[in-house]
Amino acid sequence: MRLVLLGPPGAGKGTQAAVLCENYKLAHMSTGDLLREAVKKNTKLGIKAKTYMDKGDLVPDEVVAGMITEKLQQKNMTKGFILDGFPRTKGQAEILDTALDSLSLPLDMVVYFETKEQTILKRLTGRRICRKCSRIFHTINIPSKQEGICDSCGGELYQRDDDKEHTIKKRIEVYNNQTKELIEYYQEKGLLEKASGDLDVKELFAVLKDTFKKSGLA
Ligand code: AP5
Repeated sequence: MRLVLLGPPGAGKGTQAAVLCENYKLAHMSTGDLLREAVKKNTKLGIKAKTYMDKGDLVPDEVVAGMITEKLQQKNMTKGFILDGFPRTKGQAEILDTALDSLSLPLDMVVYFETKEQTILKRLTGRRICRKCSRIFHTINIPSKQEGICDSCGGELYQRDDDKEHTIKKRIEVYNNQTKELIEYYQEKGLLEKASGDLDVKELFAVLKDTFKKSGLA
């Protein structure tokens, strides 16, 4: 199964990707995670990316492209994958088409998480992430057993710098201006399936399971 998860910030792409990868044994590629890792390690790419990420802007396509192409060529991707947070622009979608064509790994489906703005704001302001294993929690929806501590590895939970209200608004604006057009792009290719990002994690997984079955993917 080769999937793209598309949707606004906070739609639950990362959370659902973890559930799908576990259930269907897929590789998970999140450009947000890759970029945050590069920022943490202070690499050349990370230093460049940080200025954009802090403002809630997209990192330019040419900066992201090399990172993605390299990742797609890794062996574990041939067994199936989920792309989360990529592509984000039409330019990136075209880069992806070219890369997947050359690897003979065409996409099977693009799932669009249709999500209300009210849901997005609540989700992002309450999000907490583990510094060690990157597991995602939410202070109200999906709280850790012990406040501030990861259930999986005992790591410290933190709030992302770009999950502050002002930056969240900017990220939503950027999504509406630059990423939303991909819905039409993939609709025209006959790859788009819609699901409600407002559902809770288990409900959404059940809907997706059903969609995959109906499409003959699982
Ligand atoms: P990125 O990390 O990709 O952020 P995003 O797309 O804004 O998406 P999020 O990670 O915020 O949300 P999500 O949909 O994964 O939600 P989550 O599962 O965490 O990108 C960050 C930045 O990096 C960008 O702004 C940009 O600068 C740069 N970047 C990344 N990719 C790029 C690219 N391709 N090109 C250029 N720049 C790029 O869930 C959110 C919260 O809700 C959590 O607390 C979770 O516990 C909770 N939750 C999740 N699902 C549910 C549910 N179903 N019910 C209840 N609660 C839920």
